[in-house]
Amino acid sequence: MSVGSRVKSQALRQKIMPAEAAAALIKPGSTVGMSGFTGAGYPKAVPQALASRMEASRAAGEAFRLRVWTGASTGPELDGALAKADGIEFRLPYNSDPIAREKINAGQMEYFDMHLSQVAPMAWQGFLGPLDTALVEISGITEDGALIPSSSVGNNKTWLDRAQNIILEVNEWQNEALEGMHDIYYGTALPPNRVPIPLVRPDDRIGQTNFRCDPAKIAAIVLTDTPDRNLPFAAPDDTARRIAGHLIEFFEHEVKKGRLPANLLPLQSGVGNIANAVLTGLNESRFENLTAYTEVIQDGMLDMLTSGKMRMASATSFSLSPEAAAHLNANMAQYRSKMILRPQEISNHPELVRRLGCLAMNGLIEADIYGNVNSTHVMGSRIQNGIGGSGDFARNAYVSIFMTPSIAKGGKISAIVPMASHVDHITQDVQVIVTEQGLADLRGLSPKQRAELIINNCAHPDYRPGLRDYFNRARQHSYGQQSPHLPAEALSWHQRFIDTGSMRG
Ligand code: COA
Repeated sequence: MSVGSRVKSQALRQKIMPAEAAAALIKPGSTVGMSGFTGAGYPKAVPQALASRMEASRAAGEAFRLRVWTGASTGPELDGALAKADGIEFRLPYNSDPIAREKINAGQMEYFDMHLSQVAPMAWQGFLGPLDTALVEISGITEDGALIPSSSVGNNKTWLDRAQNIILEVNEWQNEALEGMHDIYYGTALPPNRVPIPLVRPDDRIGQTNFRCDPAKIAAIVLTDTPDRNLPFAAPDDTARRIAGHLIEFFEHEVKKGRLPANLLPLQSGVGNIANAVLTGLNESRFENLTAYTEVIQDGMLDMLTSGKMRMASATSFSLSPEAAAHLNANMAQYRSKMILRPQEISNHPELVRRLGCLAMNGLIEADIYGNVNSTHVMGSRIQNGIGGSGDFARNAYVSIFMTPSIAKGGKISAIVPMASHVDHITQDVQVIVTEQGLADLRGLSPKQRAELIINNCAHPDYRPGLRDYFNRARQHSYGQQSPHLPAEALSWHQRFIDTGSMRG
């Protein structure tokens, strides 16, 4: 394959240049909409060239910072490199990069954490301000100038349409067999012109396979050949296996009761090791012919597609360990008919999540005894990652499930607390909580009934007496008895950890 052969449009071949020349087109202070959703499909060369410019500017005493919009988290060559160079002034919508996380928590970077389905509509509504440049990884350009998406779709459609200038990275590492896997829907509009989205099954195709793009806006094309980079998943440990076991038992019970079909409903599985472990559990379960309507396809889901347990998966991105990414990339043609990658406003769309009846399974940092869930802020103030798509799915799911080990930090901290120190998902959006201790089915229960169940079924035995004692005293002394609380005492649980390093203290 000759260099640049993925750029089939003769006219656009003239725009090929080195990453440094492309980075020079981006002005300090501008807003850049980047591709990337987890460690997949993010630009890999231009951000590093930008970071070098930022470092040089800083050495010369001049600030060079950007406003960065993405699909979700990206890889170290993007968020890590720019954050290290102190080059991100403002960031949206989801971050898991450790350097960027430190800058945000040190108050050196502004971070707008938002529901992932809402990013594109909000950009169209104009609430986020103008977009100067779209910097988007693709896997090729057709003869007529259409762009073949890469391993994630994210907000790329919107960035390409909204930006004044476009810089493309054509990544030749991505398998050409990706072409045809995507479904890019151009039917969204703003009110009052919105119409129903015509998707009624997870495998429906409602759009086109490539991005449209005004060639006059393309300022540069950079060729790369670099793998996507994600962290490996931890092998499921005993805790993760027990969580998976409780959840599978719950699904079997729901099928028996006639509340779920035998092949369940489309699965949504969140980020992290526990979510991945649950998929591994499902792959070993008796369920057959499963589908997914989810945000990311991680290792566990790829295994299910390989084994045939899962018939098809719809998502906006891959979120695979290095080994799984290499395996998929080498065998893309085999998987293409079993996967659809869509824009994140469609993969996470509340209308579609509600219509399809997704079974949403997401991680959490802490849940309180009434079932309010904190997914984002450790000790109420320190951001871990962001809300991601958990809110898009949790509120609209057929069953909204949150799962976590019952303790964190080697047992010094309980994931079940009297009052969540920050709330991302209100109690009405949380129907099931699962820990390795057990499962609490909260559907149809009042707050006090929920508290009994969560303490008894989900809390770690070491923390149950303390939680019961709190709940009992709140029942005697609380101002109201709908959701009994002693607010000052509830929040001192968190202070206890900060003061002594343990909630037990
Ligand atoms: N108190 C303090 N710290 C806690 C904690 C608690 N109750 N629970 C977890 N943590 C810490 C862990 O110790 C760990 O810290 P470390 O990196 O310093 O070791 C960190 O939070 C992450 O925890 P981990 O157990 O590795 O979590 P995970 O990989 O299962 O992810 C979330 C859990 C909540 C962070 C993750 O699910 C998330 O980001 N969710 C929000 C977005 C989302 O749900 N997206 C999916 C939608 S499609």
